[in-house]
Amino acid sequence: MSEIAKIQLGDKQYELPIITGSEDEKGIDISKLRALTNHVTLDIGFKNTGATKSAITYLDGENGILQYRGYPIEQLAEQSTFLEVAYLLINGDLPNKKELDYYTESIRHHTLVHEDMSRFFQAFPTGAHPMGILSTMVASLSTFYPESQDPNRAMADVELTITRLLAKLPTLAAMAHKYSLGQPLLYPKNSLNYIDNFLRMMFGLPVEEYEVDPVIADAMNKLLILHADHEQNCSASTVRIVGSSQANLYSSISAGVSALWGPLHGGANQAVIEMLESIRKDGGGMKKWIDKAKDKNDSFRLMGFGHRVYKNFDPRATIIKTACDNVLERLGIDDPILDLAKELEEVALKDQYFIDRKLFPNVDFYSGIIYKALGIPTEMFTVMFAIGRLPGWIAQWKEMVENNDPIGRPRQIYVGATRRDYVPMDKRS
Ligand code: ACO
Repeated sequence: MSEIAKIQLGDKQYELPIITGSEDEKGIDISKLRALTNHVTLDIGFKNTGATKSAITYLDGENGILQYRGYPIEQLAEQSTFLEVAYLLINGDLPNKKELDYYTESIRHHTLVHEDMSRFFQAFPTGAHPMGILSTMVASLSTFYPESQDPNRAMADVELTITRLLAKLPTLAAMAHKYSLGQPLLYPKNSLNYIDNFLRMMFGLPVEEYEVDPVIADAMNKLLILHADHEQNCSASTVRIVGSSQANLYSSISAGVSALWGPLHGGANQAVIEMLESIRKDGGGMKKWIDKAKDKNDSFRLMGFGHRVYKNFDPRATIIKTACDNVLERLGIDDPILDLAKELEEVALKDQYFIDRKLFPNVDFYSGIIYKALGIPTEMFTVMFAIGRLPGWIAQWKEMVENNDPIGRPRQIYVGATRRDYVPMDKRS
C-alpha cells in the first residue's frame, strides 16, 4: 500500500502522497496542496523543500555520503579523471574508452576563445574581481554563438554548447588571471590534457617551457572532481531556475557563477584565507576569534566551518585534507597562514559550541589552503571552484530541460501593508 501523509486544516483532513527516492529518502508530495486546500507552505531558505526529483547526485548529510550517479565520491576522486566525471554527471553513465576519447577530443578542439573576447578583458578596471569577469565572459559567449539562444534548438547544438563551455571555461579563467598580473596570455596547448593545459595557461610564460608537477596536477584533478556537483545547492538551483525560463545555457551558467561567488557559498574559500590573514595581522590569538564566532551579537562566523547539509563531516573535506598534506609536503611550504589554519581547526573541533552545532571544516576550508600553496591568488579561488562545478551545473540544467520542468516560480506569504489609498504629496506628513 502506498504511504500517505494526512494534514488537518480546521475540520477537514487531506491526504498527500509520500514519494520515496531510490536511496529511500522520503518526501511529502505537496504539488496539489494549494489546489486542494488554498494553502501554501512556508520554508524560508528551502531547508525542508525538495525543488525537483533528480537522478544526478545523492547526498546523505547525516552519514557523510556523496555519490555522483551512484558512484561514491571517494572512488571517483581516487580513480577517475575530471573529464570522465563530467561525462558521467552530464550523460548519466561512465563512458567506455571510445566514448571518453571522443569526448576528450571534442573538448580539446574548442579550447580557444574568439579573439574579440580578449578585448573585453582590457575594458575591465584594474583589480576587477575575476568572478565578476568570469560571469560576464560566460554570459557573453551567448552573443558569439547566437544559435544557443533558440530554446527549440536541436540536441546536437546543445551538445556543442556543452562542449564549448567545458573547453573554454579554463581558458577564460586563465585569461582573467594573466590579465590581473599584467602577464602575456598563453594560448591553450591542445597536446596537453585538460588539467595540465589549464595549469600551463595559469602559471606558464611564453618565454620558457612549463613543466607540470604531477602532485599538483593530481591535487587539482581531485579538487575539480570533489566540486563537480552537490545536488540542489544555491548555484545549482539558480542555474535550474534561470534555465527554466528557457534562457540559454550560457546565461544560466553565468547566473550560477554569480550565485557561487557569495562568501556563504563558493566564495567561502576566499573568505577562509582572508579570515586567517586577519587573525595573523591581529597577533594570531585564536581565542578572541573563536569567541567572536560564538557571539550572537557579532556577525563574524568561522569561514570554512559548517554546512547546510553535512552535520557530521564533509566527505569531500576528508579527501582533500590528505591531498592538502601531500601538496604542502611536496612543495615544502612553510607558511604562517597554513599553520594558523591547522591551529584553528584543532581549537574549533574541541570547542563545545562547534561540537553541539555539528560544525566541521567543510571542503572550502582545505581547498583554500591548497590553492594558496599552489600560488593561486586568493581572488581566483572561487573561479577554481566554478571550473569544477561546471559539469554539475550543466547536468542540472540538462535534467531540468529533459524532464520538462515548469518555470520556477515560488509562492509567498504577503506580510506588507494592506490596501490603502494613494496620498498626494501635499497631504503627506
Ligand atoms: N561559525 C560560527 N557559527 C556558525 C557557523 C560558523 N561558520 N555556521 C553555523 N553557525 C551556527 C549558527 O550561528 C547557528 O547557531 P544557533 O543555532 O545558536 O543560532 C547554527 O550554527 C546553525 O547555523 P545556520 O546558519 O542555521 O546553518 P545553515 O545551514 O543555515 O548555514 C552555512 C550553513 C551557510 C554553510 C553556515 O554554516 C556558514 O555560514 N558557514 C560559514 C561559511 C562557509 O563556510 N560556507 C561554505 C559552505 S560549503 C559550500 O557552499 C561549498
